[in-house]
Amino acid sequence: METGSLERKNRELTAILEVSRVLTASFDLEENLTAVMRTLSSLLEMQRGCVVLMDPVSGEFRIVAAHGLTKEEILRGKYKLGEGIVGRVIESGSTMFIPNIGEEPKFLNKTGSRPDKDGISFLCVPVRFKGEVLGAITADRIYSANHGDVDDDIRVLKIVSSLIAQFVKLWGNYRKVEQEKQSLQSELRQRYSLPNLIGESEKFQSVLKAAMKVAGTDTTVLLLGESGTGKELVARTIHYQSPRAKGPFVAVNCAALPDNLLEVELFGSEKGAFTGATQRRTGRFEIAAGGTLFLDEIGELPLVLQAKLLRVLEEKSFERLGSSKPIKADVRIIAATNRNLQDEINKGSFRHDLYWRLNVVSIVLPPLRERKKDIPLLADFYLAKFNRAHGKRVRFRSAVMEDFLGYSWPGNVRELANTIERLVIMAEKDVLDKEDLPYNLLSEESAPKGQFPTEDDTTLGAEVQNLERQRIIKALKENNFIQQRTAAALGITPRQLGYRLKKYGIEPASIR
Ligand SMILES: Nc1ncnc2c1ncn2[C@@H]1O[C@H](COP(=O)(O)OP(=O)(O)OP(=O)(O)O)[C@@H](O)[C@H]1O
Ligand SMILES: [Mg+2]
Repeated sequence: METGSLERKNRELTAILEVSRVLTASFDLEENLTAVMRTLSSLLEMQRGCVVLMDPVSGEFRIVAAHGLTKEEILRGKYKLGEGIVGRVIESGSTMFIPNIGEEPKFLNKTGSRPDKDGISFLCVPVRFKGEVLGAITADRIYSANHGDVDDDIRVLKIVSSLIAQFVKLWGNYRKVEQEKQSLQSELRQRYSLPNLIGESEKFQSVLKAAMKVAGTDTTVLLLGESGTGKELVARTIHYQSPRAKGPFVAVNCAALPDNLLEVELFGSEKGAFTGATQRRTGRFEIAAGGTLFLDEIGELPLVLQAKLLRVLEEKSFERLGSSKPIKADVRIIAATNRNLQDEINKGSFRHDLYWRLNVVSIVLPPLRERKKDIPLLADFYLAKFNRAHGKRVRFRSAVMEDFLGYSWPGNVRELANTIERLVIMAEKDVLDKEDLPYNLLSEESAPKGQFPTEDDTTLGAEVQNLERQRIIKALKENNFIQQRTAAALGITPRQLGYRLKKYGIEPASIR
């Protein structure tokens, strides 16, 4: 090969390498494509160059990036299928070469960028992905003896156009995912916003005030309250109203896994960290990076892990199991429990130093019976919601609300929501009255005596317990002895159901 043509080949290779590099430099379509055209013109001596792609909104083909054209010229560059050279290339999907545009009547010079057309050659190569023509790239070129030949240019442009095609497809997918992510995020932000937290009572309003105050900060928050009072809902709301809203909200239920699995779940593990660790596992602390880690039922966290968690909170870093490399813990921690942690500390099952670490800000969610004012609001909210969901038009007579107000709601908002959903689903008429309520809801003091077998002990406590016992048995039967479902129907957690079964000595197998 002659020196000139060797040099030329070398420049072609450099150009192709450079193009593939700039195409992956960022995820900005126009920026990358403009860099591609700049590279082509400087390394291959093309006077002008454009990338024409279909505009997804108008369906028109237009110049997306160019080199050697002014902004106005770029804006003029719009093409219809079959119109002019560019339109023909896009329509036919095949390359065109015009040796001298001054002599070519089909050349429209739409951008108006070539006052003197004589002597300029024009190349146009389609941008195709798996048979689909996405657009075209064009190049203006003045051919002289030592500037290589047309076939070389076409070959280079074809390679570049296939790189561009892949990038454009990738970019399209990326944009779609980004858009979906954004719309999901704004949906979540809306769902977990103040209007969806129902409650006008002073107690609940002060919960909201506190939640909004801490949302703007990165402090650790401890949420306390009985089952079903809205701890998780408040945790999510704090996250989605915080500067970390764009990051993930990751929840871990500390009661759901045995100790050793929970440790891996939280901190992750290296391959070979223990027998059976065949893969590296990413822990929740890592997954939650940039967002919020919600440690639910923190009162159930075993003591060994309490020590480890304390260290993470103090040092703001942790290690995967089987590794000594510290990883930065970029998370805000929100913990929740329905236990009385002070009691647990006294019993020695919760570390008081961890308690103080978690308790930077604590928010207590009051039980429903302490904010009766919120019961009608919540009832209306859930009635509307479940009517909508089940296509019904159920309403309550005012006597029903009296019973709602008289009931103690041990399962709090969750129990109220479940009760209303059940009523809506089962309703055979639009207006429900007292007698349509489940019997446990009849205001507790007015419940007919003697309907439930009482034990010898007639104290109120024993009576309530007996009532609870009967209700659990009934719910078990109604739910085919499936404990998960029974617990849900009662508005309590499976763990709580398990505890009560033990407490009352109920053996599902023996009452079947
Ligand atoms: N103020 C509220 N407004 C509307 N819905 C609420 C409110 N509080 C709680 N809820 C709803 O009640 C249900 C139970 O709430 P959540 O799961 O947050 O309770 P929790 O305190 O985490 O209970 P547990 O201790 O049993 O896990 C959820 O469906 C939640 O959306
Ligand atoms: Mg919860």
